Amino acid sequence: MIEIRAYLESDEAAVAALWREVFPGSPAWNHPETDIQRKLAVQRELFLVALLGSEIVGTAMAGYDGHRGWVYYAAVSPGHRRQGIGSALMRAVEHRLAAAGCPKLNLQVRATNRAVVAFYERLGYQVEERVSMGKRLFHSFPEP
Ligand SMILES: CC(C)(COP(=O)(O)OP(=O)(O)OC[C@H]1O[C@@H](n2cnc3c(N)ncnc32)[C@H](O)[C@@H]1OP(=O)(O)O)[C@@H](O)C(=O)NCCC(=O)NCCS
Repeated sequence: MIEIRAYLESDEAAVAALWREVFPGSPAWNHPETDIQRKLAVQRELFLVALLGSEIVGTAMAGYDGHRGWVYYAAVSPGHRRQGIGSALMRAVEHRLAAAGCPKLNLQVRATNRAVVAFYERLGYQVEERVSMGKRLFHSFPEP
């Protein structure tokens, strides 16, 4: 039976290990421990983990900026996929964002990640004609 709850400090090692396994090619600035610490300072209740027994098998990190919600680090352990865990995490995110008054949830998917597009489409998300832009404001990850 899957349990979804807010992240606890004691989850750090398991979550960081999961992200390193699921996102092996992540850029250096997506440093798991740094990203976790930053999230704990802002809407930490929207940072969710999925557990099977005591094992962390999934995560989703969401936020609401007063206009839109966003979700990052949607991830399920490779050995536990296609069992509805990713869907349960996204439903939990949606429920919490809606309860906070957030009318719409946005997310970004790498253009090469077609399988994940299929996952989100199954959950009712639509590909929208937008150009995704970003600007790094500072670097905070540990130097090698
Ligand atoms: C995307 C991810 C979180 C989905 O987790 P999951 O627990 O396997 O998803 P679910 O079991 O809830 O899948 C629900 C439905 O989505 C679709 N789906 C899920 N994975 C899919 C895939 N690889 N290819 C095609 N459709 C897929 C299917 O319709 C599936 O239903 P089905 O199993 O009955 O066919 C997981 O594959 C993952 O961690 N991927 C790598 C990390 C990643 O890229 N995250 C997204 C960052 S934007």
